[in-house]
Amino acid sequence: MTNWQKSDWRKKPRVQMPDYLDESALNAVEGRLASYPPLVFAGEARKLRDELAAVSRGDAFLLQGGDCAESFAEFSADGIRDTFKVMLQMAMVLTYGAKVPVVKLGRMAGQMAKPRSAPTETANGVELPSYRGDIINGFEFTQEARIPDATRMEQAYLQAAATLNLLRAFSTGGYADVRKVHAWTLDFTAGPEAEKYREMAERIGDTLDFMEAAGIRNQASHAMQTVDFYTSHEALLLEYEEALTRVDSTSGKWLAGSGHMIWIGDRTRQPDGAHVEFCKGVQNPIGLKCGPSMTTGHLKSLMATLNPENEPGRLTLINRFGAGSVGEHLPRLIKAVEEEGANVTWTCDAMHGNTIKSTTGYKTRPFDSVLREVREFFAIHNAEGTVPGGVHFEMTGADVTECTGGVRAVTDEDLSSRYHTACDPRLNASQSLELAFLVSEELSARRAGMAQAKAG
Ligand code: PEP
Ligand code: CO
Repeated sequence: MTNWQKSDWRKKPRVQMPDYLDESALNAVEGRLASYPPLVFAGEARKLRDELAAVSRGDAFLLQGGDCAESFAEFSADGIRDTFKVMLQMAMVLTYGAKVPVVKLGRMAGQMAKPRSAPTETANGVELPSYRGDIINGFEFTQEARIPDATRMEQAYLQAAATLNLLRAFSTGGYADVRKVHAWTLDFTAGPEAEKYREMAERIGDTLDFMEAAGIRNQASHAMQTVDFYTSHEALLLEYEEALTRVDSTSGKWLAGSGHMIWIGDRTRQPDGAHVEFCKGVQNPIGLKCGPSMTTGHLKSLMATLNPENEPGRLTLINRFGAGSVGEHLPRLIKAVEEEGANVTWTCDAMHGNTIKSTTGYKTRPFDSVLREVREFFAIHNAEGTVPGGVHFEMTGADVTECTGGVRAVTDEDLSSRYHTACDPRLNASQSLELAFLVSEELSARRAGMAQAKAG
């Protein structure tokens, strides 16, 4: 990408981005951000790309998860720790089913800009500009809070840096030890509701005992006590992204320094738009949200633009069709990919197509719909002979009541008690882990099916 410049997106049509009224404040913030260190390094992004390439071949499985929107108000060490912890538990349960490594990718350390379905919101007869994520404006329902404020980008950068610092410490500082992760999972299955998952948890424990007895654990102690944990977010606010974009001295290529993977949202993936223009020029792995409105023509054009060298691991297609609609859309997109001979990594965002309004007025997502979309995703890839590479969830380690269902059932009436999300409803820790057990069963069944096909 020799002639590409990190500011080229400015010449393209942009959607879902704020108009900053104070241009000098904006320029000052951009200048400071451009002088600050990047949050991630190119070697890490390349390592993630290689791991995503393994995912596309079925040699690894991707778990991507975290808040819909990280907020300044909910920023705390405990919050980061709890989400990290439940992702490790999920990864262990998934590894057991998949029998391949699980790539752990947080929607963390930068997931703060939100596309919205309407430019304004109305409450009690008052109409105000929509909340667009803490990096842009404030959640509070006042005229003042809703004015886009460029200085928020700097606070977002500092929060992302502190979050990443803590994640790096947790990943290598003993917190990620498999024994600990397993003990937390056993705790979950100790209650009567989650009894049906206890057998699998015990089998995982037996495996760890065996490894220890055989001395494998000591020899491989590094692998058992540390993890690679990557970060990702939607590259929506391009002023922020551009300011953190640098040339990597090793390869001479551009790197978005804001996170390991960045993705393009379902509302900002216009083939000639600003977001695609920005993402095409950086070497990070790129995610592309594919909802029901993705045409095969657009997909082909986006694959050519975003991955002209057809590099494995470069492009992850994050499907989000909604339960009951996967069969209508995924086969045609798979066909388009096959027709182009394109290398892509397929993954299932089982959240964004399943948002409904509860009887009590809250925006929610039923656990059963989330599970059903994942199952449809697996069934179609199994039928097509393609690889269901991973899952993408909006989730938190906190005990919130935002999605309904699960073994510790959250009802419509419960939603009001701990509904804390700044944007879309998230799975709580118990619902997240339960889903991991159920997805793990899908992965085991897929392996068994493939073994049988080979034998027959
Ligand atoms: C999101 O991931 O929070 C999001 C807005 O998703 P989508 O672009 O798929 O609607
Ligand atoms: Co969301």
